[in-house]
Amino acid sequence: MSKSEGRCATADGADIKLRARLSIVQESDAPATETVQFNTLASSAAGGSEPRRHDETRAAAGRHVLAARHAHPMARREDCGCRTCCPAPAARSPLTVPPQAADELRLISPEERESCTRKYHIADARMSLGSALLKRLFVSKTLGIPWSSVKYGRKRDPQHGKPCAVLPDGTQAPIEFNVSHQNGLVALVGCSSNEAELGVDIVCTNERSDYTYKLIDREGLDGWVDIYEDIFSEEEGFDIKYNVDPFQLLDGTEVDAQMLGRYDRVCKRNQQIVATLPSGETRKFSSNLLIDAKLRRFYCFWCFKEAYIKLDGEALLAKWIRELEFKNVRAPRPGVQARCATYGKWGERVTDAEVWLKRRHLQDTRLEIQSFEENFMIGVAAKPADRLPEYLINFESLNLETDILDFATPI
Ligand SMILES: CC(C)(COP(=O)(O)OP(=O)(O)OC[C@H]1O[C@@H](n2cnc3c(N)ncnc32)[C@H](O)[C@@H]1OP(=O)(O)O)[C@@H](O)C(=O)NCCC(=O)NCCS
Repeated sequence: MSKSEGRCATADGADIKLRARLSIVQESDAPATETVQFNTLASSAAGGSEPRRHDETRAAAGRHVLAARHAHPMARREDCGCRTCCPAPAARSPLTVPPQAADELRLISPEERESCTRKYHIADARMSLGSALLKRLFVSKTLGIPWSSVKYGRKRDPQHGKPCAVLPDGTQAPIEFNVSHQNGLVALVGCSSNEAELGVDIVCTNERSDYTYKLIDREGLDGWVDIYEDIFSEEEGFDIKYNVDPFQLLDGTEVDAQMLGRYDRVCKRNQQIVATLPSGETRKFSSNLLIDAKLRRFYCFWCFKEAYIKLDGEALLAKWIRELEFKNVRAPRPGVQARCATYGKWGERVTDAEVWLKRRHLQDTRLEIQSFEENFMIGVAAKPADRLPEYLINFESLNLETDILDFATPI
């Protein structure tokens, strides 16, 4: 787990204070000097090759939401939570916890500890630990209660419902929060009122790019998008296949859909395509850049969908995923140009996408998405719109030692 700059802030300016916290737990980009003890857990990662995924065939995507989890573009086989491909918890051998990690693990409850050590991949165990620490910090500070007194429940469904904090008498605490973790990054969005509903999702566009490219080379991007037909409406599917947000060529020239003409239909990689610039000049380039831009748009849709689903809390039980549609979508540009140092850099924030459910515009819900480093995008869905701060996303990095460990007490 890397330490990041010790900042911790609230974005206020509205009735509801939205507090967003971001904990960075990346392995590779962190300066070595900022690596703390828990990092050694990484060396005990379960080795072996990436397990084969269920979405290798279109049929495996299934017809209902649970099956759709198999097609999660970033899911790992053993953490998608299903009974088909995930070993039952009892069948998994728990991770061996090195003594250096024991200190941090003592700061979370036995259930949280079990959830960390039950993970198959060490990276997931670390994110789970990051999530547990972040949630406890937020709840303890916001409610003003001791670290060890923090208790959780779930809204509505006791097994799959949205996690929430509960008071000693078992009632729901007057706060709201939601967590997401992906590829080493953990984010929490929360506020000191339960009148708001919040959902957050992190996507990482290159987490499984080799695997995704293999599928795209076989099926075409259009065929690959069809794998997710249980998730996206027909209009969304069309939009993802054939629309593209402006993207940069390797020489820095920005290309938009208009410059592409009919080349916007291209769904295969390794083809030569041509953009005609407003000056009449042309630029020839590989369709790989176009496919990457379309993929980024796909992940933006995905991020919005998950953020809204998590706001609602219905999760796996939601039967309306296909009727949940996003309009006016544009993927935020990355913070910096490809192949530059991007560690910790925020990119563009996009705030004007709309959420529609069953053909009705949900005016009360706001969406925001911001890119982080080259490949992450973080989306937040929140409501009610009239009580929210100007910006939903105002994440601050936390310093593990000074912000969390100094505050936490053993449980
Ligand atoms: C629960 C669910 C929403 C989590 O999404 P995810 O992208 O796999 O994982 P994320 O890292 O974003 O979120 C994990 C966090 O979600 C929170 N979460 C769990 N259940 C939740 C629920 N019902 N509602 C909202 N948040 C929930 C937890 O805090 C969890 O972190 P923790 O275990 O460390 O506490 C997901 O498992 C799910 O049910 N998805 C169903 C919808 C679906 O199929 N979507 C695919 C296309 S949109």
